[in-house]
Amino acid sequence: MPRYAYVNGHYVPHSKAIVHIEDRGYQFADGVYEVIALVNGTLADERGHLDRMERSLGELNIDMPVSRKAIQVIMRELIRKNRARNAAIYIQVTRGVAKRDFKYPDPDFIRPSLVMTCRSFQYDGNPNVKNGVKIITAPDQRWARRDIKTIALLPQTIAKQKAAEAGAYETWMVGDDGIVTEGSSSNAWILKDGILKTHPADTRILKGVTRAAVEGIAKENGYIIDEKSFTPDEAYHADEAFCTSATSLIVPVIEIDGHLIGGGKPGDIAGKIYEWYRKYASKGPNAQYKWSANEK
Ligand code: PDD
Repeated sequence: MPRYAYVNGHYVPHSKAIVHIEDRGYQFADGVYEVIALVNGTLADERGHLDRMERSLGELNIDMPVSRKAIQVIMRELIRKNRARNAAIYIQVTRGVAKRDFKYPDPDFIRPSLVMTCRSFQYDGNPNVKNGVKIITAPDQRWARRDIKTIALLPQTIAKQKAAEAGAYETWMVGDDGIVTEGSSSNAWILKDGILKTHPADTRILKGVTRAAVEGIAKENGYIIDEKSFTPDEAYHADEAFCTSATSLIVPVIEIDGHLIGGGKPGDIAGKIYEWYRKYASKGPNAQYKWSANEK
């Protein structure tokens, strides 16, 4: 079966999905993206991801390419065309095509580009979730507005490559002040003495949609969340650690920089949170934990 992508108004075979060489996304990384998990036919946290996409676009003064309703229709049509049930839906919006010039083109003469892909992904039974993963730490080399989900991801690709070269799954990035900000494509969490810690949602991290839901779910189940940064050393001595993201949901960490976490076994609480999140995500658009740029 051919795989389909969506490019500016057209559903095209994936191998023929192309954009113009002067798309500002290509030349300046002038655009934003979202990844939404389709789990057993249901889009997880769809509202939160679309809210965040609108916010990212607003921060960069890029117009929505089409209405939110139209994006939802396109996503569903792309899923249908790909006959997908478990997939990662990638949505990218760039400022559009214009002659190469650093400053923004006049918005009256440019149309934002909208691209979507749908890639199969197995959520339930993911061995990383079951067995846990090794991670490493490395310097955070990114810009100052990490709260915007831009397509400028070179520092994250370098961090992820370092992980791959070390035989690890993820890199937790560490700021100049010695604190863990987040993973290269996930939020970072530790559990110590019954308290869950994750970096505050300021401009130094991307406020994960999965993170927001996990926060709500954990609180509802009686866990205390301390939105407080932590150092690699604190992480080495944590009772549990895990990563959250739309691509792998909740992934337990069993080793950080060679230090075993929880005796090298996936943590119970990470496992419970995974199950709770799965249940929550299966509710689709009725899911109750709202991602918000401002509220905690
Ligand atoms: N990445 N932090 C960073 C830097 C990320 O790139 C991501 C997600 C997250 C988690 O956010 P969410 O829970 O909303 O997925 C945190 C996506 C999955 C990616 O780039 O593929």
